[in-house]
Amino acid sequence: MQEKLDKIKQEALDALAGIESKDALDKWSSQYLGRSSAIMEVFKGLGGLSKEERPLVGKGANQVKVALEAALVEKETLLETRRIGESLAKEKIDVTLPGRRPASGSLHPTNRTLREIYRIFGDMGFQIYRSREVENDLTNFQLLNFPPHHPARDMQDTFFVTSAEDRGDNPLMLRTHTSPGQIHAMQEHTAKFPEDPPPIRIILPGMCYRYEQITARSEIQFNQVEGLAVGKGITFGDLKGTLSNFARRMFGQEAKTRFRASHFPFTEPSAEMDVGCFLCNGEGCSVCKGAGWLEILGCGMVHPNVLKNGGFDPEEYSGFAFGMGPERITMMRHRIEDIRNFWANDLRFLEQF
Ligand code: PHE
Repeated sequence: MQEKLDKIKQEALDALAGIESKDALDKWSSQYLGRSSAIMEVFKGLGGLSKEERPLVGKGANQVKVALEAALVEKETLLETRRIGESLAKEKIDVTLPGRRPASGSLHPTNRTLREIYRIFGDMGFQIYRSREVENDLTNFQLLNFPPHHPARDMQDTFFVTSAEDRGDNPLMLRTHTSPGQIHAMQEHTAKFPEDPPPIRIILPGMCYRYEQITARSEIQFNQVEGLAVGKGITFGDLKGTLSNFARRMFGQEAKTRFRASHFPFTEPSAEMDVGCFLCNGEGCSVCKGAGWLEILGCGMVHPNVLKNGGFDPEEYSGFAFGMGPERITMMRHRIEDIRNFWANDLRFLEQF
């Protein structure tokens, strides 16, 4: 019997020696240690043995089984160690490979222009005043000297926030220009300094909305930068000097400017400022449409009624105001032909800046 056990053990160990894979090892395990393996058959046959033989054979068979199980564990460990070693060698990380660069964004072209405008006026002592985008009829129009049925309102077709039935005579609306910010700034200032208010020098940037057909030249949503200076003894000369200086710093020292008479209800006198076309040097090209000049902004001396509505005494105080469209300016500088690009979110456009 001992001979038989030795043979079982030897056969199993010989078979184990040639095993190289986990699959083969599993098969080996069921063949040599499974329910119908030779060693298990020996255990099953114990009942048919004599009283004397039974403990001896039982003990011998058990030793074989324990030895085979130990050999199995040892082989298992060996295979696993080898597998890990191989995968480490194969999947080694090459630290000399250059990493993948994360895509980095950049400022929107309008924001670049806005920041330049802020810097130039900041240098001239203007502060930035932020003002609300939802206005009412009073501040968007009436206090700016637009009477209720003034025809200039047609230029600024309006997005109302209040429904048609509830509109009444002072409906809410999205501001059609940044000029209502003038009223807020002046009222806040004169409330704070009821006696002899010090001068104001501010720019008011922000989004404006007009209910217009969207075309290459006009959008329903756009930025404006308003400017306002109020004080004692401010003249049209200050307006011209400030805005010509702005034009030179924005468009180059050679930039020429001209002022054309115009009309706005909230300024008197009013003007439009043009700069000499910086693309053709005034000779006429497709951007200036042959005129040699590009219209940059509207401006004028603050109307006495508007000064009064802001809390200033127009007998003592005067001021100038202006308003410009940073998208327009960006279009001119970069020869952008379609204003819709600013909101199209197309990276092919945005990545050029
Ligand atoms: N608010 C005017 C517009 O939107 C621009 C402007 C501002 C004109 C200030 C004069 C003074 O067209």
